[in-house]
Amino acid sequence: MKRNRLLLLMAAAMSFTLVLHSVSADTDVTRPEVRYLGTMSCKEALPSNLEGVRLFKLCDGETKVIIAADGTEPGRPMARPIAQMVASTLLTAYQDLKTSKLLAHKDVPHTPREKETFESELNKMIQNGYTLFHSPELGTNGISCDMCHPDGANTHPETYPKFQTQLKKAALLRDMINWCIENPLEGTKLDDNSEKMRALEAYILSTRKGTPLEFGKH
Ligand code: HEC
Repeated sequence: MKRNRLLLLMAAAMSFTLVLHSVSADTDVTRPEVRYLGTMSCKEALPSNLEGVRLFKLCDGETKVIIAADGTEPGRPMARPIAQMVASTLLTAYQDLKTSKLLAHKDVPHTPREKETFESELNKMIQNGYTLFHSPELGTNGISCDMCHPDGANTHPETYPKFQTQLKKAALLRDMINWCIENPLEGTKLDDNSEKMRALEAYILSTRKGTPLEFGKH
């Protein structure tokens, strides 16, 4: 009980110091003031009735940090130096949030249980990719990827993006996956963001763990 109270006090002190983070324009008077406002639960909506104040948020899945840039026009892209100021303030506030949670033991980096979940979710995705890679369902002629690429051989995911003569353009891994689906497998291209494409990419990449990235390599 006592320990909890101490942690709460620590967290309160942390968030208090956070309030002092405020970046303001030095000489250029047309620049807005960018300041840290505080934190809210990610589930809560941002207040909408703050006239002339544009809010920005970054959520860690539980808590969001909120900063304000006074005088910038909502809905319009900001000029680069102002956008950089907003981005840097947002990043600092987010990193401070993570640090304060860590110090208050509210967010141990990854508990063994979390790690298990991460691993099993990832393995599920890779397993789905493995199944697709070894099944003729992506095509129409009974051929599957593994027949030419056993265990993902010669897929070279670490060399992407790179120019591919077959496609006459700088290609991503998914472009070559689709090229093989359409050609040797005589199937229909997968949507770039489909679960199947994501799973195939995950599986192919998993076969090359530890290989240095060498994009553009031929
Ligand atoms: C009939 C054999 C064959 C089958 C089946 C096949 N491929 Fe390929 N794959 C090739 C050939 C040939 C290339 C082209 C290599 C080159 O010229 O870069 C290639 C290239 C690739 C590449 C790029 C490799 C690199 O070095 O850049 C990927 C990724 C790939 N295939 C994935 C797949 C996937 C996923 C499937 C199943 C949907 C599949 N392939 C099915 C023959 C095949």
